Amino acid sequence: MADLPVGGVIDVPLAQTGEGIAECELLKWFVQEGEEVEEFQPLCEVQSDKATIEITSRYKGKVSKVLHVPGNIVKVGEALLRMVIDENASILPSVEAAQDLVAQDSKINELDIADSVLKKEKIRGVLSTPAVRNFAKQLGVTIEDVLGTGHDGRILREDILNYAARKGILKASSEILIEDSSAKNFLGDQTSPNVSSAYVWEFEDRSLPLRGFHRAMAKSMTLAAKIPHFQYVEEVNCDALLDLRASFQNEMSDLGIKFTFLPLLVKSLSMALSKYPLLNSCFNEESQEVLLKGSHNIGIAMATAHGLVVPNIKKVQSLSIVEITKELSRLQELALSNKLSSDDVSGGTITISNIGSIGGKFGSPLVNVPEVSIIALGRIQKIPLFDEDGNLCPASIMMINISSDHRVLDGATVARFCNEWKRFIEKPELLMLQMR
Ligand code: COA
Repeated sequence: MADLPVGGVIDVPLAQTGEGIAECELLKWFVQEGEEVEEFQPLCEVQSDKATIEITSRYKGKVSKVLHVPGNIVKVGEALLRMVIDENASILPSVEAAQDLVAQDSKINELDIADSVLKKEKIRGVLSTPAVRNFAKQLGVTIEDVLGTGHDGRILREDILNYAARKGILKASSEILIEDSSAKNFLGDQTSPNVSSAYVWEFEDRSLPLRGFHRAMAKSMTLAAKIPHFQYVEEVNCDALLDLRASFQNEMSDLGIKFTFLPLLVKSLSMALSKYPLLNSCFNEESQEVLLKGSHNIGIAMATAHGLVVPNIKKVQSLSIVEITKELSRLQELALSNKLSSDDVSGGTITISNIGSIGGKFGSPLVNVPEVSIIALGRIQKIPLFDEDGNLCPASIMMINISSDHRVLDGATVARFCNEWKRFIEKPELLMLQMR
């Protein structure tokens, strides 16, 4: 690291943004070519598998070249931009990993890699990066027909999209082009991910590049599908739960919190986990060891316009129902605005997917590796049931489906755990006996 140049030109690489992160999607630039930059000034925003991260400058200097456009996937260690750094500026101390990455590529030639790629492309008549070319190909756009609006007439991703929209290749482009990220570009209505805000009558095939959380989901579900799962389904009577929620809503309105029944389910789940810790564990395939996790960090699957994300409520054992409600609402707000931190989405120990808030009787989810259990909640529905005396009466029934890693858990353990949880859901007053 002692060899870092002071003064001169430097490539600024994408530093390690978190454990196990190999690449990020560039979401947006905060600086442009020719701009003077101060130390710590935000340069750009990137999205990893786990969170959105702002990359700040370690240098004072001037941006000489940005090497990627929003929507590009940048590998950790790959150059994001090129800067001419101030002769007198000191290099900020940084984490080891980032230093190593910078050191690898700190000195650059006049003819750098990206430039030579661009020049090669120009020889063939078009100035663009391979990523943009590929994007054009995916959309079925002939890149030679597109007018570039970038530096030196370079064709940008936006140029391809605008061209495609003008030519009717992307007919609903005004609806699907959202701000700056190509992940968002194709997700349509913010409140209803993956769904267009209106009926679109079109007959052309379209290619959607996987980005952001959607890309992470593809990776993690492929991994999860290799795990031998088993499903355990049970019906739970939610009458008492609904009454309790209504009572909280009426009696505690001065708290200014909206109570749903999910925090009660989270708390009672944690109580049942205290008795059945195997469901709150992680499996290390390499060492063939199960790690019983000390904290109940309960993940909640949230569908957002940016994709499916699973932030977790930490140490649920130590939280009151009001605290869980507030934390759930904080996480939900951050998830919707794509502002969750990597801490919010790391360290989960078991996951709940409340698919019933959208609809459906039950789902069959795959575990969130390395966790060993995930629980899908179906929609609570009022149905007629016979009581113990044979009388027909209405009951609010919810199906729950516990999917588990069969290498760690067997059916009997899950059934016993489920009985315990069900007892707390159906008689929430029992929670008071054990709650601290
Ligand atoms: N059955 C019936 N009603 C339900 C329900 C269910 N399973 N889950 C929620 N509701 C009700 C709530 O009580 C609330 O009713 P109200 O408006 O009358 O008060 C309403 O639906 C909206 O609840 P919501 O805002 O979704 O809050 P929540 O605390 O129940 O759930 C989230 C929070 C974040 C889990 C939820 O908003 C969400 O994103 N769900 C989608 C889950 C998902 O995407 N799973 C991924 C599948 S792969």
